[in-house]
Amino acid sequence: MHSARPTLVLLHGFPLDSALWDGQRADLGRVAHVLAPDLRGFGGDARDVPEVVSMERHAADVRDLLDAHGSRRAVLCGLSMGGYIALAFAEQWPERLSGLVLAFTRATADDTAGKEARRAMAQDASGKGMDVIARAMLPKLLHRNDARSRDSMEAMIARQRPQGVAASALGMAQRPDRTAVLRSLRVPVLVIAGKEDALMPMDTAEAMAHAAPQGHLHVLSGAGHLGNVDSPAEFNAALKDFLAATKA
Ligand code: MLT
Repeated sequence: MHSARPTLVLLHGFPLDSALWDGQRADLGRVAHVLAPDLRGFGGDARDVPEVVSMERHAADVRDLLDAHGSRRAVLCGLSMGGYIALAFAEQWPERLSGLVLAFTRATADDTAGKEARRAMAQDASGKGMDVIARAMLPKLLHRNDARSRDSMEAMIARQRPQGVAASALGMAQRPDRTAVLRSLRVPVLVIAGKEDALMPMDTAEAMAHAAPQGHLHVLSGAGHLGNVDSPAEFNAALKDFLAATKA
């Protein structure tokens, strides 16, 4: 272990990279040893990207990251796709979790239309290009409207490699419902939801907090899907409270 501070792993959403956590890293770094990787196929990651990167594959990468840092246990905080990955990790390695934060995400699987949309996204990533995808996605992601945040999120999406985006889109389509994993968890679980999240309905967040035996729901009032960007101070405060109450 690096110190008595807990290890906190921040898992970014889709199709983004670890710069999503720029508003968290330093602040949360005061209370935790923060690891915020670029997931396989995103940002500066240079690992092999097969045709499909499953949530289980991403979760195994997270386990390897913990091993490389000598961290036996950690709090995982997954935002949206990061939450799907955190749940896949929780299913495989529950003993390595000291707490779980599920932000702007859900435990359920995609329906038929959702799976179809993933396949279309995988094709569009190379067919239309990431800048077209960035422009189309942006309105659904942020609640706040300042040009700096919008431009930085649009640029983050536009710089992702189509191959990595396609592979994780297809991986998300394959993920099962992991509500039963939540029910089985014996560690504190914080569900963070955005009142203005256009992608994750509030009842899915309530259902997750209810399913986890030690689940708690925190709703950010002025936040959309990327609530850590919309309301960084409130998001960070919720995480700090959770870390303080969670046994490392
Ligand atoms: C994300 O932000 O990671 C995505 O909205 C997840 C998804 O498409 O289900």
